Amino acid sequence: MRVLISGAGIAGPSLAWFLAKAGARVTTVEKAQALLPHGQNVDIQGSARKVLKKMGLVDEVLKFNTTEKGTQLIDSKGRPFAPFPVQKGTANSFTSEFEILRGDLAAVFYNATKDHPNVTYLFDTTVKEVISNDDVSVKVELSNGDVQTYDILVLSDGQWSKLRKQCFPEDAVKVVDKDMFAVYWTIPRIPTDNDWWNLYAALGRRVISLRPDPHGTIRAMFTRMPMNEAHRQEWLTAARGDRATQETLLRKEFTDAGWQSQRLLDSIPTAPDFYFQPMQQIKMAKWSTGRIVCLGDTAYAPTPLTGMGTSLAINGAYVLAGELSKLENGEHPSKAFDAYESIYRPFVEEKQQIPSLLPGFVHPNTARHRFLINTLASALSKVVRTPWLANRLAKMVFDESDHEDFPLPKYPVFEEEPAVKATELNTQ
Ligand SMILES: Cc1cc2nc3c(=O)[nH]c(=O)nc-3n(C[C@H](O)[C@H](O)[C@H](O)COP(=O)(O)OP(=O)(O)OC[C@H]3O[C@@H](n4cnc5c(N)ncnc54)[C@H](O)[C@@H]3O)c2cc1C
Ligand SMILES: *[C@@H]1O[C@H](CO)[C@@H](O)[C@H](O)[C@H]1NC(C)=O
Ligand SMILES: *[C@@H]1O[C@H](CO)[C@@H](O)[C@H](O)[C@H]1NC(C)=O
Ligand SMILES: *[C@@H]1O[C@H](CO)[C@@H](O)[C@H](O)[C@H]1NC(C)=O
Repeated sequence: MRVLISGAGIAGPSLAWFLAKAGARVTTVEKAQALLPHGQNVDIQGSARKVLKKMGLVDEVLKFNTTEKGTQLIDSKGRPFAPFPVQKGTANSFTSEFEILRGDLAAVFYNATKDHPNVTYLFDTTVKEVISNDDVSVKVELSNGDVQTYDILVLSDGQWSKLRKQCFPEDAVKVVDKDMFAVYWTIPRIPTDNDWWNLYAALGRRVISLRPDPHGTIRAMFTRMPMNEAHRQEWLTAARGDRATQETLLRKEFTDAGWQSQRLLDSIPTAPDFYFQPMQQIKMAKWSTGRIVCLGDTAYAPTPLTGMGTSLAINGAYVLAGELSKLENGEHPSKAFDAYESIYRPFVEEKQQIPSLLPGFVHPNTARHRFLINTLASALSKVVRTPWLANRLAKMVFDESDHEDFPLPKYPVFEEEPAVKATELNTQ
């Protein structure tokens, strides 16, 4: 089976890993010149940890942990309070052991596949046009001018996939706005920085966060909930605009936010990885058409508010590859695509649900609201540091993130162990 994958983020390379193991030949095109180091902490939850284990990549992911000591709040005078330290083997913190920077995770999957003899990556390359998609094959023209035919084409080029627009009718894709915006970038570390995730609730529905990374720099984030509809439109316009427009808006809206807002605003112009993201979900009526199938954020972006984008992409890659591996010679891939969707869609829909009051609760507008949050957080912080209480409460407050939240189907090709490393294959 010859497979073309569009997009080397999280979903694309994890799919390539499983497809290569099942004996397929995989080509992945990526728009960027090199693997994007962008993005902040992502958490690998539940069943996705089991998938990592099947890939033999657990140690690799732990090695690139974010080194974060835990989560703490910052008060209006800039002082930390309400610490939630990471406690190994328990879930009593907002920081998990399986937290890794998005860019590092993408590199883990890329590194684990790039030397496989049946996997090829083409950077600085996109699918320019899908020429045909029929019973026999899918034919494409790449941006480098090559015309190629494949058995299937996988769209894993993210939430804003242009190819999805080309391949599916407009009414097949729904964008659900979640009324919140996030901006991420990396800044130089200074001696007063620490190894905690520091969260500061500025009033007026703004939050500022600073957290460490394993590369000696600090990851900064602004999040913002608009005050009304006109304000929301202003932010949506900036999201579609260029970086200068976005910087101007941030300067206007965060200059008076307090704490380290000035330092952060001043660092934006030189940030290598500035990323402005409206919280919007993708919902598709059907994930495939003919020989073309969507995976990860392209098909079902849940937003970082759920903490599930990465896990959905990883589990999805496993199921899609598994179903494809079950096809008999000559069978149309739509059979596998339909199975992937019917097995996986209920879980995706469950995980796309966001408690509607949560984002508003953590973005206080008034001093009174902030006082309430701070009081609750302080109390909770004391509780989780009292072991016997913590064990009872953790299950209520924090996700039991190690349990198998999605029952993984078993596929014979992925059951043998242990996975031979791609680098070892090359030297055989
Ligand atoms: C730069 C960036 C930063 C992110 N930061 C965070 C974060 O801090 N926190 C968080 O929770 N989630 C973040 N995400 C989203 C997160 O990666 C996804 O929710 C999740 O991991 C699913 O990944 P994915 O592979 O489906 O999509 P993505 O990770 O978005 O990967 C899509 C890939 O496709 C490439 N691409 C785009 N267009 C084309 C094209 N036309 N042809 C070929 N390739 C193309 C992109 O360059 C990218 O490498 C970020 C995504 C990106 C792209
Ligand atoms: C987390 O990363 C640090 C430094 O990058 C490393 O020393 C530590 O061993 C890692 N933790 C695990 C569990 O691998
Ligand atoms: C990927 O491989 C490169 C080159 O060998 C290495 O520098 C990098 O640290 C690796 N990254 C991860 C996340 O494994
Ligand atoms: C690569 O694919 C071919 C079939 O196209 C297969 O025979 C071979 O075993 C694969 N190589 C590896 C290392 O999986």
